Amino acid sequence: MFEEAQLYAPVTRSDDGDTTVHLGDNHPGAADPDYRARRNALAALAMDWQPDTPPPTAPYTAAEHDVWRIVCAELHGLHERLACSAYLEGKQRLRLPEDRIPQLVEVNEMLRPLTGFQYVPAAGLVPLLEFYGSLADGIFHSTQYVRHHSVPLYTPEPDVLHEVFGHGNCLAHDRFAALYRIAGEAARRVQTPEALEFVSKVFWFSLEFGVLRERGEVRAYGAGLLSSYGEIQQIAQADLRSLDIPRMGVQTYDITHYQPLLFCADGFGEVEDLVGGFFADVDDELVQRLLLNASAPA
Ligand SMILES: [Fe+2]
Repeated sequence: MFEEAQLYAPVTRSDDGDTTVHLGDNHPGAADPDYRARRNALAALAMDWQPDTPPPTAPYTAAEHDVWRIVCAELHGLHERLACSAYLEGKQRLRLPEDRIPQLVEVNEMLRPLTGFQYVPAAGLVPLLEFYGSLADGIFHSTQYVRHHSVPLYTPEPDVLHEVFGHGNCLAHDRFAALYRIAGEAARRVQTPEALEFVSKVFWFSLEFGVLRERGEVRAYGAGLLSSYGEIQQIAQADLRSLDIPRMGVQTYDITHYQPLLFCADGFGEVEDLVGGFFADVDDELVQRLLLNASAPA
């Protein structure tokens, strides 16, 4: 059974301008030359994009629209049972099409009036400070490619389903959007790589892979879970710890597998208080103190 992952494929551009996406050998599309050509073309679109211009239109195929439709349909029932209420409210508010892949331009027209957030294209992995820092401006860097159609319910890397159907429905909710913004401000406030990594780990264990308890049930609020058909069904079986910022900031994790350990908040309010409070206050000195305490013998 494939375990969904969050490993962006490296993208390179040759001197004569050819763009290549380097898919891993065990990527479902690795042996599919048509898929590889499409990945290169979509990555080239993102690399040619100029800031302060509309995101490029990605010419999706019928097969790619089918993947979106299948995944949205499968996630629909799971979200009703396993997504937190703030996500369901955001989904209701944004009303993304579920029968075809919306263009980032379309998503922006729907999202801007709600919370001011905007999508810009990304060819692949965006440097940490650029990705997180941009959130402070209401900017979310998003890939536009789609996972391989042979395994629609699996992707080794964050594709447009994760970025838009996972994060987008969160960004459409005022309380979620506020958390993303202050996470961005935190990334810009800290100066050291250690502090930025600490901030990114807290983000990972909250807005990517966070769960919370609502009416006695464990529900997902992290986009990595909300966009993963397989992993969202595993949250109740995970090793659930209570929200613990010092631990979240140093906890190691493997991005190529389901997360065995998750931090569970007591409602969305506790996410805002503890995770939001941390993002609002964090600086290099605080991280140094937390790292010191984390390394101190128990
Ligand atoms: Fe993500």
